Amino acid sequence: MCMHQTALTDAEGSGLSQTTVLVTGATSGLGRECARVLALRGARVLMPCRSLDEAKRVLGEFRIAHASAMAERCQPHPCDLSSIASVHAYLDGLSRDAPIDMLFLNAGVFAVPRQLTDEGFEYTLAANYLGHFLLLYKLAMLGILSENARIVVTLSESVHKNPFSRADIAMIAKDPPKPAAQMFSSPNSKVLLALMMGEFLRRISNSNLHSIRFNAVDPGPTLTDNVNQGSRIQRMLGQLVGPILFKKVDQGAAPLVWAASSSEAKSGVLYTAIGKEARLPKKCTDPETAARAWLASEAALDLPVFDLA
Ligand SMILES: NC(=O)c1ccc[n+]([C@@H]2O[C@H](COP(=O)([O-])OP(=O)(O)OC[C@H]3O[C@@H](n4cnc5c(N)ncnc54)[C@H](OP(=O)(O)O)[C@@H]3O)[C@@H](O)[C@H]2O)c1
Repeated sequence: MCMHQTALTDAEGSGLSQTTVLVTGATSGLGRECARVLALRGARVLMPCRSLDEAKRVLGEFRIAHASAMAERCQPHPCDLSSIASVHAYLDGLSRDAPIDMLFLNAGVFAVPRQLTDEGFEYTLAANYLGHFLLLYKLAMLGILSENARIVVTLSESVHKNPFSRADIAMIAKDPPKPAAQMFSSPNSKVLLALMMGEFLRRISNSNLHSIRFNAVDPGPTLTDNVNQGSRIQRMLGQLVGPILFKKVDQGAAPLVWAASSSEAKSGVLYTAIGKEARLPKKCTDPETAARAWLASEAALDLPVFDLA
């Protein structure tokens, strides 16, 4: 296996002028870097984002650093993943003409105090998991995913190294119970995303989408704004030790771009920061739990049964 050090070298040589990419969380950190290098290689990059002002600022930076044609290939539209209505509106406005070839389910928050969204969901679970579930479900059901699409979901060490993370299915509901500790909401969302990957692959296996490849990636500790979402003490520690312990953003994005673009990546597999295959624990792969989480998500979002026939 050959994985380059940075996302830019990883995508080098790949002519992507006929490729449509969708990246969530493309206004910052890892998602921004994936969007940047793929647009540089010629891809049309869809950027659903919760702040159009932020997206405009990012495109302004792209315009200064690169040719303006590259920035023009990036297409931001409002989409707050924590709002189910916003994700529906975004998807309903998407063109059916150019199906998505690469899908990065990447956006995430990690240290948000417990709060409910206007629709009644726990905020972190909605932004990290439910919004992405709806995006994936509807892109497939509406026929906006290419038959050979590459999907990459950004997970974290919590799925394969944190013994306290688990699939908290009771949280997939309006007005959910209070978790034992709010700090587990983000890691639990990552476990649910891992289960979603396995269940999605099972559900498309007998359909015209059976060739889709879906990978999970743990980018490893990377110095992005994610680190700044922590408490004041965590932020101070991040600034002090961050540059020593964390990777640069282009290095953190490398395994994401590699998983989406390499012919070597195997579907259904979790790759680590260095492109090594990591074993997903049973809590992330158990088919029975995955099916329950999928059905709970459909029910919570009032979606019909997923059926590609
Ligand atoms: N950095 C690390 O060390 C690390 C390690 C393992 C895994 N990860 C994962 O990597 C992914 C990307 O994180 P990052 O490190 O690049 O952090 P980041 O710089 O904070 O980027 C997070 C992105 O998600 C977007 N986002 C947050 N809530 C959203 C919402 N409700 N709707 C739409 N977009 C939303 C943010 O938008 P705004 O720009 O508007 O804030 C931002 O673009 C996350 O899933 C994170 O869990 C990161």
